[in-house]
Amino acid sequence: MTQYSKRMVIVHWLTLALLIAAWFLGDAVNEARKEDGATLLGYAVHGLVGGAVLLFTLARFYFRNQDDVPPPLGDTLLDKVAKGIHYALYAVLILVPLSGMMQILTSDVYAAFTAWDVSLLPKKFTGVTAHEVHEILVNVLIVLVVVHVLGALKHQFISKDGIMERMSLRRK
Ligand code: HEM
Ligand code: HEM
Repeated sequence: MTQYSKRMVIVHWLTLALLIAAWFLGDAVNEARKEDGATLLGYAVHGLVGGAVLLFTLARFYFRNQDDVPPPLGDTLLDKVAKGIHYALYAVLILVPLSGMMQILTSDVYAAFTAWDVSLLPKKFTGVTAHEVHEILVNVLIVLVVVHVLGALKHQFISKDGIMERMSLRRK
């Protein structure tokens, strides 16, 4: 069976780890702000981890273009849906970090960073569209990942076609 290249596999699983970290950090920053305890470091760490997701996704496009990609497992409607989910995941992996960056640039978080003054951090993101967009896109991402994982589990345990081997570092 053809497998994804080692670097595609590494970036795939690293993205999962970074997403979990970014999600927890984003939630922590949000909670801290509501309790008047937000810090510049909190925003910076969340932004850097989230920004790394964007960089790895761009690298992934490059690797995908350069390396052999396994052919689709089949041509059924579900296979087409799975492919559509992959494209949607890629789109959201780019849009979530971009909306996060826009959120900083279009809110008082930017002023707080440029003056390095924690007291300038916003108490609320009223009228900051990117804030709503970021939150909605994070939820869309979670839904897509859940469907994607359910699909992988279906292949692994019901169809038993060894799909996980395609995304494994162990070479056949
Ligand atoms: C894939 C990457 C990312 C994920 C999964 C993610 C996730 C999250 C989550 C779960 C929240 C809390 C949402 C809420 O409950 O309202 C959040 C908030 C936020 N994120 Fe991200 N984020 C990502 C990337 C980024 C990036 C790259 C930046 C900026 C450079 C950023 C900036 C922010 C800001 C400013 C907030 C608002 C925190 C607050 O409510 O005070 N995010 N993010
Ligand atoms: C426990 C979590 C996960 C499992 C078990 C899993 C499993 C897999 C497997 C087996 C494949 C290969 C599919 C094939 O050969 O047709 C794959 C591909 C893919 N996965 Fe995941 N995945 C997980 C998490 C994620 C996450 C968090 C993302 C991104 C948000 C993601 C994005 C993708 C994408 C975009 C592809 C298609 C690769 C390509 O052809 O370019 N996966 N995944």
